[in-house]
Amino acid sequence: MSRIAVVPGSFDPVTLGHLDVIQRAATVFEEVHVVVVHNPDKHALLPISRRVELIEQAVSATGIRGNVRVASWSVGLLVDYCTDVGAKVIVKGIRSQADVTYETPMAIVNRNLARVETMFMLPDPSHAHVSSSLVRQVAGLGGDVSPYVPRVVYEYLQGDTDTSIE
Ligand code: PNS
Repeated sequence: MSRIAVVPGSFDPVTLGHLDVIQRAATVFEEVHVVVVHNPDKHALLPISRRVELIEQAVSATGIRGNVRVASWSVGLLVDYCTDVGAKVIVKGIRSQADVTYETPMAIVNRNLARVETMFMLPDPSHAHVSSSLVRQVAGLGGDVSPYVPRVVYEYLQGDTDTSIE
């Protein structure tokens, strides 16, 4: 039986779609660890520490009961984090068939590495088109991203002049 789930991702920045999945996971599992991981395949906008802070603020603004922790992980495999905290399940949000194609190899590798299962969770369809990369692009070109991100992220991006890369 598993009572702890890990919701990993780049979260650069966290979107309303991510938040929806985090909220759903928090109703299913006793404890949810949202883990910010550096993805070397992606060009980062926000420092990892800022991503963690924004998730913490966005989660607390939703009023989710206090079973969500936010952490970062940069010292090895994601399954090492899972093993450290005793999590047997990774939860990933799936918006489309493209997400299934992207996530499936990672899910199988994580299971082979450490017997950590991945559960796919569907966000509300209203978030199906929302992605961090789209938010980064629209925000970078001066567009309005308020429909796609938590308010704290919108406010941060409005005032942000620091686009340092990790
Ligand atoms: O939001 P993303 O960028 O799609 O998340 C992908 C992420 C960061 C969860 C994935 O790249 C990951 O788990 N990286 C950690 C390194 C690792 O464990 N790799 C092997 C199994 S995929």
